[in-house]
Amino acid sequence: MNEKTISVSPRLRVGVVGAGYWGPNLARNFAASPDWDLAVICDLDADRAQRVADRVGGVPISQSLDEVLADPAIDAVAIATPARTHHPIVMAALAAGKHVTVEKPFADEQRRGAEMVDTARANGLVLMADHTYCYTPAVLKIRELIAAGDLGDILFVDSVRINLGLIQPDVDVFWDLAPHDLSIIDFVLPGGIDATSVAAHGADPLGTGKSCIGYLTMPLSGGAIAHIHVNWLSPTKIRQMVIGGTKRTLVWDDLNPQQRVSVYDRGVDLAGQSQATASDVHAARISYRLGDTWAPALAETEALSNMTAEFASAIREKRQARTDGASGLRVLSILEAAKGSLGAGGAPYPVEILERVEQS
Ligand SMILES: NC(=O)c1ccc[n+]([C@@H]2O[C@H](COP(=O)([O-])OP(=O)(O)OC[C@H]3O[C@@H](n4cnc5c(N)ncnc54)[C@H](O)[C@@H]3O)[C@@H](O)[C@H]2O)c1
Repeated sequence: MNEKTISVSPRLRVGVVGAGYWGPNLARNFAASPDWDLAVICDLDADRAQRVADRVGGVPISQSLDEVLADPAIDAVAIATPARTHHPIVMAALAAGKHVTVEKPFADEQRRGAEMVDTARANGLVLMADHTYCYTPAVLKIRELIAAGDLGDILFVDSVRINLGLIQPDVDVFWDLAPHDLSIIDFVLPGGIDATSVAAHGADPLGTGKSCIGYLTMPLSGGAIAHIHVNWLSPTKIRQMVIGGTKRTLVWDDLNPQQRVSVYDRGVDLAGQSQATASDVHAARISYRLGDTWAPALAETEALSNMTAEFASAIREKRQARTDGASGLRVLSILEAAKGSLGAGGAPYPVEILERVEQS
């Protein structure tokens, strides 16, 4: 007996915490959602909170997180404050019985992220990582194509995310930008990101005190490799991911709205590979396939609108969200290994996942 329909589901009430650069986007999407009532905008800075509240129809504001969390009419909070504050704010929200969606990076340390996941599970609450890109039509389509076997076995992932960025006060470029690439790779690869080690190289040529340019390299299962380039100092903006497979190669250019995703029916075939040994591999016959290129149709839906819908569904259906705490921890495990590698002069550093939550 299932009497639940969208029209009879009561709206959930959410507070947005943090009204800086990203919070207004959350507020706009929650305000426009049929699933949610935007109950309050909370920021330590009242002017900021008020500006955002005015833009979404004059919802109440608060400068006090405690006041928001004490309101029994609020079901959930969406947290868009700086990374170092995620853990204390999430823990307070979970202790107050609120469901939570928190911005990337999930936490500023994996250990703290694992504590958040444990607490959410113990309290029976949804804790979601807002890995926003996983809710874009492009990434949803990429995941679908890979799952359907259209690319074949994955050989490599190469991701570039560079622009003239804001140098963040509390995180380096790896922790600011790479969560996007890592969460996308984790989302689209069947079985998620399974790197066992990471090599990271960073540079701070302006002497800001943290890496502003970063390169991450990690082996994936089956001999595949992933490389991520993140950079705050590039005058040109590039958002591009190439995913090569044994059958086809996919290129996602997020800054090309006419054709964000292209699938190339091109590649290299190595005939006689199974017989070839390391010494006679040169003798193997290499042939190049030069087939068609096509572009899948993509919906024009805003990612955050999909994210707010998923957050509501996870709460109503009492299940893990698509980008749940476990995915947040997988991303943190790679970032932490990258930190270890930077400390070891770029040597590969083992990835250790502190906590794994079963997906349901
Ligand atoms: N998903 C995405 O694509 C995306 C994009 C940009 C930023 N982000 C993430 O969003 C988060 C916020 O980034 P930002 O650039 O908006 O930062 P920001 O500094 O512009 O804004 C943060 C706001 O949080 C407020 N704040 C801090 N502590 C608070 C507290 N205890 N209670 C209430 N308000 C508090 C600050 O006053 C500030 O207004 C970061 O984690 C960032 O990585 C995500």
